[in-house]
Amino acid sequence: MRSRRARRWSVSTDASLAIASFFAPGSIAVVGASANPQKIGYVVLDNLQRGRYGGRLYAVNPRSPRILGLRAYPDVLALDEAPELAILTVPTRAVAKVLDQCGQKGVRSVLIITAGFRETGPAGRVAEDELVATARRYGMRLVGPNSVGVINTSARLNATFAETAPVQYEVGMFSQSGAVAAAILDWARSIDLGFSKFVSLGNMADLNEVDFLEYLGQDVDTKIIVGYLEGISDGRRFMAAAQRVTKAKPLIVIKVGSTPGGARAARSHTGALASAEAVIDGAFRQAGIIRAITMAEFFDAILCFSYAPLPNGGRVAVVTNAGGPGVMAADAIERMGLSLAELSHETRQALAEGLPPAAALGNPIDVLGDAAADRYQVALEAAQADPSVDALLALLTPQRVTEPERTARVIAHLARQQAKPLLAVFMGGAAVGRARAMLDEMRVPVYAYPERAVRALAAMVRYRAYLNEAG
Ligand code: COA
Repeated sequence: MRSRRARRWSVSTDASLAIASFFAPGSIAVVGASANPQKIGYVVLDNLQRGRYGGRLYAVNPRSPRILGLRAYPDVLALDEAPELAILTVPTRAVAKVLDQCGQKGVRSVLIITAGFRETGPAGRVAEDELVATARRYGMRLVGPNSVGVINTSARLNATFAETAPVQYEVGMFSQSGAVAAAILDWARSIDLGFSKFVSLGNMADLNEVDFLEYLGQDVDTKIIVGYLEGISDGRRFMAAAQRVTKAKPLIVIKVGSTPGGARAARSHTGALASAEAVIDGAFRQAGIIRAITMAEFFDAILCFSYAPLPNGGRVAVVTNAGGPGVMAADAIERMGLSLAELSHETRQALAEGLPPAAALGNPIDVLGDAAADRYQVALEAAQADPSVDALLALLTPQRVTEPERTARVIAHLARQQAKPLLAVFMGGAAVGRARAMLDEMRVPVYAYPERAVRALAAMVRYRAYLNEAG
């Protein structure tokens, strides 16, 4: 991986200190705030207000005296104080001048949402370099340009123009694509998954993915870090930071643009330089980064790492109410380097006592098509207690007598009992929709297909092995 950040400078303020101003500013000015609900400058201010941001909030706009109930100032210089954070939603042509005014005013942190710089070609690159030079002159730090914004749920800060605001939870996210991030926020909201902090990095003229990775690595509100990357600004620094962070928290990264075609697309998106597939793969593995190749894998891993404890090993018990899904799960388990647990004599005995004679007591444990929630309880409890089981899968397909919702409750209850991951796979459509939503609410990782659950589980097993090796 080559460094494209030769022009990075070292400033006296540590990046992490600067980032704190983006995530928890005492005051914010939205420069380019607008009274027109169709404008980004309106949405950003509106999102801040709706999110009940508690600091001092200023609107800056030379044309309107009042915006969203706030007095609007004609420019940054007219503000009563230097805001801790300035958010720029002015048109591209106005950014350079506004940034200079921010510098004159004494603003230290500037989030530039406006697009139209490096990603547009040579002239944009020059314009972006000029922004960097201005920031350097005044000692300002930048996020963006071309950013969707930042979120910190614990500070009630939604400084984005995203449609969906996340609920509070323990996932910290950095993304080199604002649009992908917005989609992830929306997906997460639909399944009740929350975030601690979120940053859309934009073009990374100044602060980049490594700075935020280091910050999130130290952040007490963040237990899992997830990242969408198109390019890596400084490979060596990124890997060194990842190596430190992954010893304490899982880091799940989707790195796209590693094929020649993808690399070309990435260059015209954020101007990022991508690296070869094999190099990325090896480097990620060494640094303990959980790599997702597809968006589906990325989502699935986020869910699993967010809600389930890490398994001690890869021996899996499968409980199912149908043979087919059990076979699919068994295939996936072997394909992905895990194994079906050999159930102990005691476990088989408990199963024989609690299940009907026709039930299959091996592994997969088939509780039969007419199983109600109580049979899942018997089987899952027995398997959970078995020391030769590291992780469990509860598979359900809807038959007439199946109780998807009651079974979901049983699974959620048992998932909380033991420090072994228990993943649910509820296959089907309308008949299992409500149960899936309940599992989401109760923070149990739930999947629509066995292979997706097994792949996510396999990532956890590999991460556990990495932690064991790393000591
Ligand atoms: N100081 C303060 N406000 C200023 C200003 C200045 N120097 N110059 C202009 N403004 C105001 C305008 O008056 C306008 O407010 P109004 O609606 O009250 O007139 C507001 O800033 C926006 O300017 P406008 O010319 O209407 O631009 P726009 O809203 O059409 O576009 C951006 C501005 C930032 C949205 C646009 O340039 C852009 O970059 N869009 C893409 C952003 C993006 O997608 N980023 C993330 C990518 S993932």
